[in-house]
Amino acid sequence: MKKILFANWKMNPMTENEAVKLARASDVKDAVLIPPFPFLKAVKNVLKNASLGAQDVFYEEEGAYTGEVSPQMLKKLEVKYVVVGHSERRRLGESDEMIAKKMKAGTDVGLKVILCVGEPLSVYKKGKKVTEEFIKKQFRFIKDKKNLIIAYEPIWAVGTGKNADPEDAARVARFIKSIVSVPVLYGGSTNSKNAEDFLKKKEIAGLLIGGASIDAKEFQKMIKIAKRF
Ligand code: PGA
Repeated sequence: MKKILFANWKMNPMTENEAVKLARASDVKDAVLIPPFPFLKAVKNVLKNASLGAQDVFYEEEGAYTGEVSPQMLKKLEVKYVVVGHSERRRLGESDEMIAKKMKAGTDVGLKVILCVGEPLSVYKKGKKVTEEFIKKQFRFIKDKKNLIIAYEPIWAVGTGKNADPEDAARVARFIKSIVSVPVLYGGSTNSKNAEDFLKKKEIAGLLIGGASIDAKEFQKMIKIAKRF
């Protein structure tokens, strides 16, 4: 299976010009570029090979929902993937119930939904079994696995420079797949130095990359590595 690299740019870069430049430099077939909403269209316009993703979606179709973006709006921009339940959004108060509704709304219009799950450090420290149980709890609302991808992102590894042990990540990916049989990504401080350790695990379908994806050179190096698998 081909490994896919998902570039979650988060709230970067600052201008459309920079976004377009980064998109051009990252435009390869097995990449999904996930820019901030205001740059989706400009990025889409320059992509020839990579796919387009969005960082979030709302669950209602239209109406009085200040600040929200509907699944249809994303579809019309030719967005293929959408991230749901990222730990940076859960931290802002997004509940499992909201995430479940977003998953449904996204898949209902044919978007591929990347559901992020992962444990905080306190849970991780308590050991493997507790970690797995914690992740399982985040699955209780999954009803339909069509168009679903799961990203295992330990909260303590996102943006911290700390990684999960690739063997642990593979074990969690196996555990996830034993509950719901969908592709599983790993995310959390991946870069060109550790990408291979995760990508070589057969259970890991690709990476959800934050920081390293907004550094064009670093991302290109990771693409080169992913191509070997
Ligand atoms: P990071 O982010 O690679 O900067 O840790 C990963 C993510 O948030 O998806």
